[in-house]
Amino acid sequence: MDKRPIGIFDSGVGGLTVLSEIKKQLPNENLIYLGDTKNFPYGSKSKEQIIEFAIQNAEKLKNLEAKIIVIACGTATSQAIDILKEKFDVPIMGIIEPTVEYVKSKNIHRIGVIATEGTIKNGAWEKNLKSQIKNIEVINKACPMLATIAEEGRATSKEGKKVIKEYMEPFKNGKIDKIILGCTHYPVYQELIRKELGYPVELINTGVTVSKKLAEYLKRFNLQNTRKHNEDLIFLTKPEEEFKIIAKNLLKFDIKIREIS
Ligand code: DGL
Repeated sequence: MDKRPIGIFDSGVGGLTVLSEIKKQLPNENLIYLGDTKNFPYGSKSKEQIIEFAIQNAEKLKNLEAKIIVIACGTATSQAIDILKEKFDVPIMGIIEPTVEYVKSKNIHRIGVIATEGTIKNGAWEKNLKSQIKNIEVINKACPMLATIAEEGRATSKEGKKVIKEYMEPFKNGKIDKIILGCTHYPVYQELIRKELGYPVELINTGVTVSKKLAEYLKRFNLQNTRKHNEDLIFLTKPEEEFKIIAKNLLKFDIKIREIS
């Protein structure tokens, strides 16, 4: 048994989609979330910058006694997970590996991936999928505006609809019936994506795959907590009013935000 919290980070609100799945899967765990709002968005930044931010975030979570750190961000997972694993003695889990494992278990041979510009350029999803699954065809689409629109709480606005229409273009031929939401901000667009595509499609939410993997990991290494004793702590590197509202819509409860420098 281990009462220490699970540390989770992202550039902003997106990682809350992962946090909410972790809460469902592991209701007895204490959670600490860090949104690096000061450096949002990650998707358009260089690899060097992402590594720097990821190290800072992991250091903060380690200082807050996290027993494991979840990178609830596709951009940071794709560019910084190896360095974090090397640098920290705390276990690190990203969103790519558990999701690729899920895809592999489902015998899928053609898949779409939507993610930030940085993640798609880096090619981490495609590389990981292809290294695990023979002959898998991967259709990538970078969606540069989606995280920012979601971060501003405008996912269902006219603009949100307009960009979804544009970004779904490569999938409209109906040949792709499974799409990985490769950025943790994207689950808020699920309904719009389904409507736009107009055919049944499985949208793979990385929060679900990560929380299952996390539960297995904690069990395997005897790191589970048996009774939650703290409320979840949410830290932001820059206070954001919108964050509270989006969190309320997403998590369906009020959160107290703390600032961390
Ligand atoms: N939520 C993030 C991701 O999964 C980052 C989006 C951004 O900051 O651009 O990639």
